[in-house]
Amino acid sequence: TKLAVFASGNGSNFQALYDATQDGRLDAEIVLVITDKPSAFVLERAKQAEVSAFSFNPRDYESKQAYESMLVEKLEEAGVEWLVLAGFMRLIGPVLLTAYENRIVNIHPSVLPAFPGKDAIGQTLAAGAEMAGVTVHFVDEGMDTGMIIAQRSFPVNGQNRETVERKIHDIEHQLYPESLQQLFSRQQSV
Ligand code: GRF
Repeated sequence: TKLAVFASGNGSNFQALYDATQDGRLDAEIVLVITDKPSAFVLERAKQAEVSAFSFNPRDYESKQAYESMLVEKLEEAGVEWLVLAGFMRLIGPVLLTAYENRIVNIHPSVLPAFPGKDAIGQTLAAGAEMAGVTVHFVDEGMDTGMIIAQRSFPVNGQNRETVERKIHDIEHQLYPESLQQLFSRQQSV
C-alpha cells in the first residue's frame, strides 16, 4: 500500500509510521511527505529517511481548490493510494476528498467526538475531562468528524499537561501504525 503522509510540524507520527514500515509492523510504503510549512521539522525527518517530500505554500495558490488539484497530480504521479494526515493543520477540501474517497485518515489527540479542532489536549484539560486519549478516524469535510477507526483513552487523574501530552504521543505512535495495518489488511481481504 502506497501512502502519502501530510504533516505541518514536528512529524513524530510520520517517524513512528515510517519506523513501522521498516520493521514490518506496517505493510506499506510511505512514498511522499506533503507539508504546507516549508520550515516543518518533518522535512528533516523525511530527508533522513530518504522519503521524497513536497512542500508548498498555500498562499502561492488562488484557492484551496487550486492547491488541492496540484496535490492530486503529484499524488497520482507518485502512485499514492492512501492519504495519512499526521498533524496537518488544514481542512481537506472537496478536490482531495473526491480523488481519495474513503482513503484519507487522520489522528487526533482526544477521545472524539469530544474536543475536535486545535489544541485538543489543552481543551481536554481545561474542561476537566475525566479521560484523555487518541482517535484514528476517516476524514470527511468536517473538522475531526469522520467515522472512527480506533480509539484509546486513559484517566487524566490530575496529571499535568506534560505527562498527559507524553502519554498521548506514546499512544499515537503505537495506535496509528497498528490501526492502519488492520485497516489495510481488511481492505485487501474484501
Ligand atoms: C499529534 O498530536 C496529532 O494527533 C495531531 O497533531 C500532532 C502531530 O504531532 N493531529 P507530530 O507532528 O506527529 O509530532
